Order: sequence, then structure tokens, then C-alpha cells
Amino acid sequence: MTKINDKSKYLHIDGVSINEIAVKLKTPFYIYSETTLSENYLKFKEAAIENKIINPLICFALKSNPNKKVVKSLAKLGAGADIVSGGELKRSLECGICPQKIVFSGVGKTEEEINLALKSHKNGIYSFNVESFEELELINKLAAKAKKTARVALRLNPQVQVKTHKHISTGFKTHKFGLLREDILKNLKQRKYWSHTSLVGLSIHIGSQLTCLKATDKAIKELCQLALETGKSFEFFDVGGGLGVDYERTKDKPSCFDYMKLVSNALEKYYYTRTNDRPRVVFEPGRVISATSGHFITKVIRTKTSGDCFFAIVDGGMNDFVRTSLYGAYHEIIPIKKSKRKVVSTDIVGPICETADCFGSGIMLPKLMANDIISVSDVGAYGHSMSSNYNMRDKPREFFISKKGKVSKC
Ligand code: LLP
Repeated sequence: MTKINDKSKYLHIDGVSINEIAVKLKTPFYIYSETTLSENYLKFKEAAIENKIINPLICFALKSNPNKKVVKSLAKLGAGADIVSGGELKRSLECGICPQKIVFSGVGKTEEEINLALKSHKNGIYSFNVESFEELELINKLAAKAKKTARVALRLNPQVQVKTHKHISTGFKTHKFGLLREDILKNLKQRKYWSHTSLVGLSIHIGSQLTCLKATDKAIKELCQLALETGKSFEFFDVGGGLGVDYERTKDKPSCFDYMKLVSNALEKYYYTRTNDRPRVVFEPGRVISATSGHFITKVIRTKTSGDCFFAIVDGGMNDFVRTSLYGAYHEIIPIKKSKRKVVSTDIVGPICETADCFGSGIMLPKLMANDIISVSDVGAYGHSMSSNYNMRDKPREFFISKKGKVSKC
């Protein structure tokens, strides 16, 4: 839990004073709360169970946060992994995620990555979520060579438009992801794809930071209709990830419970009423598990007034955290010390030579001064995982607050 301690007036996360850490450790850095991470995971899982989704498989999307301590902590709670590269596969295995809980998505799986996944266990991974028939042909060939049968799911492109940033919308026909319904039906009987693969599931993933669930309902409908049309029975339906986070704290976003209710009702309406088949439901959440567990701590180098603009120039830049620059995303900014200074409109900018290098503009904050420290909130998803060495800067370090309140480097 994040709060300003009434006595010290400093921001505390799970009882740990961020000021004490920041004076000891060099800024900028990320810090993650194991407590928040597990609460988010358990809330997601419990919401599924409360909505009668039996034995859900929750595959954490590693791309949101592949930090070892984060992944290990989720593995201990029983999470699986949604991966998109050989690197994420290795990270999942090294952190104790069982191959039989791993789904492999992505349009560009290479021969090397497919082989690595096939060899990770005697039965390979839980599922290759296939995005093209060219890919399926390769998986079939490599599985034959390895004398194995690869478990595969076909990712349907349900042709739905979602309300989110265009860069992270993935379920429309012009997007590179998934397979069109007609192509799936046409190729199901093509023997060249199926000698060493077994079709165990169907999957969808229509986008990220979804705060309206209409398109999700429509996509599940498409998935169910396709399943019925194939005449096959399936071990699982993978409904992807994408549930959004209330970054703006408007409290009007769908909760995990709302989301699970919708998934459950959609499966009931479009599938269970028409067949006795009861596939397991697989989820691939990333953001909703990791976002609120992370904070980015950065220090004001100096301030600058230019005409009507007041800039606080901080030591963190868009190479460390790119969401605000890349997507115009909002992340709450909290000075880590409560102050009675006059509140002024502030632009929080970094040292990178791009105007986009900005964590927030026109934010009303008590007037910042050099050496003040601020926290950028909800950065546990797509924060450090998207950081770079741009401008030859070091990548920010990461710290972890364990459930017992112990802070360690990770
Ligand atoms: N499954 C697949 C196949 C995905 O492509 C993704 C995210 C997820 C699951 C997890 O989605 P989530 O539950 O985290 O929304 N960098 C962007 C987000 C990119 C999402 C890419 N795919 C951002 O910072 O908003």
C-alpha cells in the first residue's frame, strides 16, 4: 500500500520509507511491491472462480514485467506464463514456471525459439498460439524432427475494433495478429499442418488497456461460433489479456470481477447452451497484475522557468519509462515528501534530447526544487520492460519490497 506517513510526512510503500531508500540508492530506479503484485494476482484468480470459471489457467504476460523476483513470486502463487520470445521462455523456466503452464504467442516465432519450446518438457509447452499457417507448417516440421507432437491453439483474429490506443489494438483485420475465421475453416483438414501437431485450443487477444468490454464480448462470441463450426471439442479457450488499469483513478473502469462476469456470461450464452464441451479457460493478463505494483523514483536535477512554463528536470528519462512519451499515457506523479509550498503548474521532463521526454505536463504540484524526489505511479507494467539505453544512458535499476518488508535489488 502506498501512503504518506502522517508523522514523517514521507511516502511509504508497504511501510517502507521511499525517502530512506532514495537517499541510500542512486536515482532513478523502479521499486516493486510483492504485496500488491500478489493481491492483484489473487484478485484476478478469485474473480474467475467467483464467476464459476473452474480451474482457470492464469498465464502472466511476461512482456509487462519479466523481472526475476516478480516472475518467481507469481510462479509461487501458481501462475503460468504468456511468452513471446525465447528470452521470455528461458526467464519463465528459470523462475520456476512449469512448461505445461506456458503459452507462446507472437507472429514471429523463429525456428530456434520453437525448438527451445518443444524441448522444454517431454510434452513441450502447454500451447503454441499460432498466428499463421506458415508458422504452423514450421512447428509441424520441427515437431516431426524432434519426434514430438506440438500442442497448438489457433489464434483467431475476430475482427473487432477496441477503444484503446491504436498502437495496442490487435484484433482487427488490418492487424498482423491472428488468423481469419475463413482461413481457419479452410485449412483445418490440410494434412501438411497436422501430422505432428495437435489442435488443443483456440485463442484471441484483441488489445491492451481495455476499459470497455463490448469488444471482448463480441470477440468471445466469434471464438465460440468458430469452435462450433469446426465440430471439434477443445481442451481450452484462451481469451487473452488486455484488461485495463484505472491510471486516472476515475473509478469507472471495469474491475476484475466485471471482466470475469462478462467472460463467464459470454461463454454461457455463446457456447455452453449449444454444446456439452467445457473447455478450460486460459487468461493472459499482464498489466492488471503488475502495473500498480511498480513505482518509478526519480530526483529533480534542477528547475527552470521559461516564459509561462515551469519545468522540473528530473534524472529519469523516456529511456527509463516511455509510456507517457510513446502513448501520451497518464501516470500519477507524487512528490515523496508532503509539503506546504505553493501549488504551481509543472512540466516534469527528463534529460533526453526530445520534447516527448515528459512524464506529465501542466500538473498541479507544490513547487518542486532541486533534489526533491518524486514517484511516478503504476509503472510495474511496460515500465522497465520497455526501457532502453537511448542517449547511452544506463538502464534504471530495480528493487523489490518482499511481503516481509525487506528491500532487495533485483
Ligand atoms: N497476450 C498477448 C498475446 C499480448 O500481445 C499481450 C500484450 C498480452 C497478452 C497482455 O496484455 P495486457 O493484459 O498487459 O494488456 N506497451 C504497451 C502494451 C503492449 C501490449 C502488448 N501485448 C503499453 O505500455 O501500454
